Amino acid sequence: MQEDQFIPKPYANSIKSGSFTWSSPSNIALVKYWGKKEHQIPENPSVSFTLDNCKTITTVSFSKKENQDEFSFDVFLDGDKKDGFKPKIETFFNRIEAYLPFLKHYHFKIETSNTFPHSSGIASSASGMSALAMCLMSIEKSLMESDGSLSAVERSFSDSFFIQKASFLARLGSGSACRSLEGDLVVWGKHGDIEGSSDLFGVKYPYEVHQNFKEYQDTILLVDKGEKQVSSTVGHNLMHGHPFAQERFKQAHKNLSNLINVFKKGNLDGFIEIVESEALTLHAMMMTSMPYFILMKPNTLEIINKIWAFREKTGSKVCFTLDAGANVHVLFPKKESEKISEFIKNELVAYCQNEHFISDRIGFGAKQL
Ligand code: DP6
Repeated sequence: MQEDQFIPKPYANSIKSGSFTWSSPSNIALVKYWGKKEHQIPENPSVSFTLDNCKTITTVSFSKKENQDEFSFDVFLDGDKKDGFKPKIETFFNRIEAYLPFLKHYHFKIETSNTFPHSSGIASSASGMSALAMCLMSIEKSLMESDGSLSAVERSFSDSFFIQKASFLARLGSGSACRSLEGDLVVWGKHGDIEGSSDLFGVKYPYEVHQNFKEYQDTILLVDKGEKQVSSTVGHNLMHGHPFAQERFKQAHKNLSNLINVFKKGNLDGFIEIVESEALTLHAMMMTSMPYFILMKPNTLEIINKIWAFREKTGSKVCFTLDAGANVHVLFPKKESEKISEFIKNELVAYCQNEHFISDRIGFGAKQL
């Protein structure tokens, strides 16, 4: 089994206690992950831009404990104890214990905060699970390194393995989290045209990307900051037995194939077509599942229509994408920043809840602090 490569050898070190801090960003999918098999295996490959400003900062402090029969941890968000987060983390620990056999040997204090407001409707699972996975990998690394005397080659191998295993673990927490560790474009899910791609972890997009897509901007318009109407787990499950599922999975493969040339040539019109179609298809899947949902709000549609009209009128290359909610990600090349920020202020902000939006851009993944 390929997963076996992530089961560690017995640890060289014994450590009583310590702490590590990582920040990890959110990401926005261009080709969407929607539908999964057992063990967090995606039904189709996806690709995302890693974000920069929207991130989670997590510190994990660990101390050796006597009883090694069960997990023991406390979770804090912005300094407040959050027992409500425990079941999700318990499930995560159960899924990853085979790959991190030290998990029952320590008590963990997990302190986390997000740079974006908790009630923004922005899912924190990608940034949160990836930050946590990185902290756990730092603990594993410190248990493994006997004297730190690795050669440069061994170190670079171990650095890439570190990221790969962190992505593998993050996936088991939340699928999209495995795309948050690196930047600026990450592919997750096996795709015949993308070398090295895997269902088990995210990989940096391996081919040429035109200057047009460097420093891409993403302004997130907060249309609805409420709790998600459909959790992602429920959402993915709606694809089981969905009448259009197989066609949709094929389409995702095709869209990702087509993006390879789009990225290479800097084809902004081709990019817009694929990205907007992916967003609408994601919502179409929800509208045509049983039970069915409409996660867009009237203002989501107002914004989409304004973007289309603006593009028509000005020739701008601005476009939108959506995740499984009402908020709109407005994507545009950096050189259009000034023009688009005027457009957003003058025409789009009125459709945001309390006029709230977040200006973000492509980023480069998790960082140890
Ligand atoms: C619509 O990664 O949140 O954002 O694996 O159940 O945690 P789980 O799902 P999650 O799903 C994200 C779905 C999406 C599309 C995407 O990010 O690719």
